Formats: sequence, C-alpha cells, structure tokens
Amino acid sequence: MTRKIILDCDPGHDDAVAILLAHGNPEIELVGITTVHGNQTIEKVTRNALAVATIAGITDVPIAAGAHRPLVRESEVAESIHGDSGLDGPVLPTPTVELDPRHAVDFIIETIMNHEPGEITLVPTGALTNIALAVRKEPRIVPRVREVVLMGGGYHVGNWSAAAEFNIVIDPEAAHIVFNESWKLTMVGLDLTHQALATPAVVESIKAIDSKPAKFVLELLDFFTESYRNAQGFDYPPVHDPCAVALVIDPTVMKVAKVPLDVELTGTLTLGMTVADFRAEAPADCNTYAATELDHPKFWALVTDAISRIP
Ligand code: BDR
Ligand code: CA
Repeated sequence: MTRKIILDCDPGHDDAVAILLAHGNPEIELVGITTVHGNQTIEKVTRNALAVATIAGITDVPIAAGAHRPLVRESEVAESIHGDSGLDGPVLPTPTVELDPRHAVDFIIETIMNHEPGEITLVPTGALTNIALAVRKEPRIVPRVREVVLMGGGYHVGNWSAAAEFNIVIDPEAAHIVFNESWKLTMVGLDLTHQALATPAVVESIKAIDSKPAKFVLELLDFFTESYRNAQGFDYPPVHDPCAVALVIDPTVMKVAKVPLDVELTGTLTLGMTVADFRAEAPADCNTYAATELDHPKFWALVTDAISRIP
C-alpha cells in the first residue's frame, strides 16, 4: 500500500530534495505540493516548486501556493542559507508546469476531506502557517489525517536562535496550533537532521547516477555546502527536509521517541523552542514523537534510489 502525502514546503534546497524523494520513491503517492513563505517569499518558493517539478517531470501533481506571511509576526527569509532566489546554485528552467488555482489551505482541506479518514499524511517541511490555517478553517481535518510528520524544531539544539529552529521560530504561533492538535505528530527536528549530512561519499553516489535530476541535486548540494560552511560552520550540509519523507517511506530509517512536545511562545531567549519533556515515560495519551537517531546509509540509499528512478 502506497502512502499518500501532501508535501507542504518552501523550496529551498533541501525541500527540493524532499520533492524528488517523494516523487521518485514507489512507496509514496504525492497527492499535492503546497507552498508556504519561509526560505524565501511565497512568489519565489512557489516558482521554485514549479521549477523542481519541471526538472523532475512531475506533471500530474497539483501545486498550490499558500500563505505569504506568518500568522502574527513579520516575514523572515533564510537568504543566508538558500540565497536570493531561495534555490541559488543551479540555473532554474522556466516552469512548464502550471500552478493550481486553489489556495494551498483550501487544497489541503479539500484533499483531506475527499479522501477516506486515515489516508492522507501531512509532511510539512516549512513554516506551519498553512497547516495551522487549515486546522482553524476546517477542524474536521484533524481526525481524518493519518499523521503529521514534519521537519522542524529540535529538542536540544536550535539553528535560527540558540534555542529555536527556523521553520518553527518564523511562525511560532502556527507551530503552537499544529503541535497541540490531537493528531499523531512526529517532529523530525535538528537533533535528527544534523545527522543527515551530505558527505563526500554521498556526493559521489549521486554523481554516479549521471542524469539531469542528479546533476540538479549536485548543483544544489554545491551551494548548500558553501552556505552551511559559511553561515553555520558545518563541514558538510545537513539535508533536513527529505528526512521527514524518509520516515513515512520507511520507519526503520530512524529511531523515534514518544515524548510530550510543545512550542514556546513567550520566552525572550527561547521563542519558538520546541520543548520536549523527557523527564519520565510519556503518558499513554501522548500523541507526539521526536526523531532521535538516523540510519545515515539507509537514508541516503533511499534518496539516491529515488533520484535514480527519475529520468
Ligand atoms: C529548515 O529550514 C529551512 O531553511 C530548510 O529548508 C529546512 O526546512 C531547517 O531548519
Ligand atoms: Ca524547508
């Protein structure tokens, strides 16, 4: 049985790899790609999503644009990591894929309501603005969603502040809504994604594929490596977003702990921190999980396999 997902993203170098993993893996049925402000403006990340779809030959998946700014706060973009276009490095094609006319929030609601309960998994890899708005507009989606597997947060490290991760801190109120719903939610946060490094061996394995999508990924990784080296002092870049897709494909690709999670909204130093309560065994009614330990070879094998399946 394939898993039906909506990928809610802000491409973004690692979001682009997440799209390719979802498209190329035979276990996943990508029922929609929705975009949200984040790495760059909504106009730029939406154009990038269409460009990635054009490169990958994704022609039958609706792509819908969503929220242009956070619920409460001013917009913030991650130019230091993703550049002026949001996807700097490769020369992007003029998209030949068309944008779905629906707003992402309406698309998410319609898609969930038009499927059987338990069929759709939400995979957000950007700010949680669209998902929070969808929940507020149509709360009946919550029990119909199979689970939410998101890239964001972290229980012991931040990247946009000492305590907070980018996707969460740029719209903490939206994250608070999403983390506090009754659906099963797994946080694939920095604790996990900082293990998903694109090492030289990983780059070599992608080089060996020798296709247009593989060349595109290599160009993305070139830029991403430089960004992470200059902006955050990494030797090799952590490729965050495909980790969330990988968990949906194969639960053995990482270890996950059941743990109460919440999002800090009032801290002056800790705004947007995802607080995990590891003090005791999680209560039976706890519906939140945090990813802890990645099987690095298995993860990159999934990614390279998916890329190699895309002509
Ligand atoms: C997250 O922030 C974005 O810049 C990346 O695309 C990823 O989703 C990592 O903190
Ligand atoms: Ca992202």
